Amino acid sequence: MNKKMIIAPSVLNANNLALGEDIKKAIDSGIDRFHIDVMDGHFVPNLSYGPQLVEDLKHAFPKVEIEVHLMSDRLETLIPLFVSAGADLLEFHFEAGPQEQIGGWIDFLTKKNVKAGLVLNPQTPIVRIEPFLAQLDQVLLMTVNPGFGGQSFITASSARIAAMREMEARCAQEIDLEVDGGINAETAKVARQAGANVFVAGSFIFNHDDIRHQIKKLNQVIES
Ligand code: DX5
Ligand code: ZN
Repeated sequence: MNKKMIIAPSVLNANNLALGEDIKKAIDSGIDRFHIDVMDGHFVPNLSYGPQLVEDLKHAFPKVEIEVHLMSDRLETLIPLFVSAGADLLEFHFEAGPQEQIGGWIDFLTKKNVKAGLVLNPQTPIVRIEPFLAQLDQVLLMTVNPGFGGQSFITASSARIAAMREMEARCAQEIDLEVDGGINAETAKVARQAGANVFVAGSFIFNHDDIRHQIKKLNQVIES
């Protein structure tokens, strides 16, 4: 498999008062994608960022790809809002429903030239994603239950990643396969071996003094 390996830092657990500096440090370390976690206090029991952060990031760093992870069930309100704010890739949850509208939302994103991703919670059978695979740019398999940073990687995720790659081969599709939650130097290695090529990392990168060093460590693991 020679998919491009990508680190997508999540600033969810970064210090909000140092957000600009921390983002700049990550970009200076060679990061070319950011993962913005959007939580609505309803689909998940937490609140986080809004479209203004996406707009500000896009304005300050136009070359950096912005990936929005929508943990919300108000898709009709939030998808258009984050598209207008400048998201380059938008991924929403399969569980956010209604399921008969999923295909329509993927089409909407594609028509707006925004890459489309679908997210599965750890308990959702991956076979549920198969009908949408042909339309998708990326699949995100959650490796923790969504809502909070700093949780531990669910070990059963490796088998799901491998099964997802098998489904991709069966459907003759080319997608990016992302993992999110509890990613550090050890779990990134496990996820990479199972077939993931996009790695979201929050606390491993931002809850340390040396952001550059943490990114370098992760890079070494996924590129080896
Ligand atoms: C969890 C979010 C995250 C996560 C990443 O709901 O989607 O992107 O907070 O943070 P760490 O790497 O700390 O698990
Ligand atoms: Zn996320």
